[in-house]
Amino acid sequence: MDADRVFARLEELYAIGSNRPGLSDVEQEAHRLAAMWLDEAGLEVGRDAAGNLYGRLLGSRPDLPEVWSGSHLDTVPAGGRFDGALGVVGAIEAVAELEPGERTVTVVAFRDEEGVRFGGGCFGSRALCGRLDPNELDKRDADGITVGEALAALELDSPPPGGWLDGRARCFVELHIEQGPRLLTMGAPLAVVTAIVGTSGTRVTFSGKAGHAGTTPMAGRSDALVAAAGFVLAVNRLALDGDLVATVGQLEVAPGAANVIPERVTLTLDARATAIDAALQAVDRLAAECSGETERIWLYEPAPMDERPRAALLDAVRALGVAPVEMDSRAGHDAAVLAQAGVPSAMLFVRSGAGGVSHRPDEWSDPDDVALAVHALSRALATLSG
Ligand code: HGY
Ligand code: MN
Ligand code: MN
Repeated sequence: MDADRVFARLEELYAIGSNRPGLSDVEQEAHRLAAMWLDEAGLEVGRDAAGNLYGRLLGSRPDLPEVWSGSHLDTVPAGGRFDGALGVVGAIEAVAELEPGERTVTVVAFRDEEGVRFGGGCFGSRALCGRLDPNELDKRDADGITVGEALAALELDSPPPGGWLDGRARCFVELHIEQGPRLLTMGAPLAVVTAIVGTSGTRVTFSGKAGHAGTTPMAGRSDALVAAAGFVLAVNRLALDGDLVATVGQLEVAPGAANVIPERVTLTLDARATAIDAALQAVDRLAAECSGETERIWLYEPAPMDERPRAALLDAVRALGVAPVEMDSRAGHDAAVLAQAGVPSAMLFVRSGAGGVSHRPDEWSDPDDVALAVHALSRALATLSG
């Protein structure tokens, strides 16, 4: 296991761009680079109908369901080096340590996990598992390009709506940076994930009456942005004292002139909770109280991780002399989609450095922690493929 090579590859990917939107030519370049590394590692390289990338260490029994490990290569705008990329580069390094056995061990890079362009995310893993929305291919990005057009630009056809998992994966293990401060606070390098919380995206639209910013009396105004602001503050208060984690990262004001009272405001609320259904009922109630109209644009139910791959990870971490920590994941991951499609899934978190920041260029993880994580992943994959 060559930790320097892992970091060199993370830098090579980062040099392509810290903004690698899903289904873009920048993500495509990252996939091309990863395909080269898979080939160099002597793995059988392939792609599927959604453009997901696979590298197989072929086992003597190709008829048996495979052991999968991987993550994604797209990023958020001004993202970090580790989110997603570590799960792919680390899996290549972990599989490179393995001797071929009975079962095939497969590295996978899923397309468009972040969902920055089209919303929803986990496009590649949802396509594989037959969970694309009926209107998926018509979803448009900010430039009006549809998912279908983006796929065509990558010389990919429309993925078959029913998916193609077909029992190929015996289990799925995703290595990922924690993306938060908990392991840092605990002084622990690794964690095995118990469950991925429910995650959701809700578009809320507030309508008001446009008017002259100067001559319209304050009394009696119907200012859409004032209503939206009330909602944002109310959701924030709700989240401050409970299970809910809520963020408004996108907000548009129309007509958007400084001297015109806002007529319409559209925002996207990212809300996550273990009890996501109850949390969303409270969110929808608050939106109604603020005269907002809600449209759910994505929802991932909580995804418990599976006992067997979790046990393999826990044993592997212990075998390295590390006391394993267990925690939930408040970030969404492809592992949630695989788990909900019935693939026994598990995640290994590696400690975030830099105060635990993520979705930022200064996201960091210590090379010693990464080396431990790759060793643990490799041991777990050996156990699971035995
Ligand atoms: O938003 C998330 O939790 C993940 O980074 N897609
Ligand atoms: Mn992310
Ligand atoms: Mn990620």
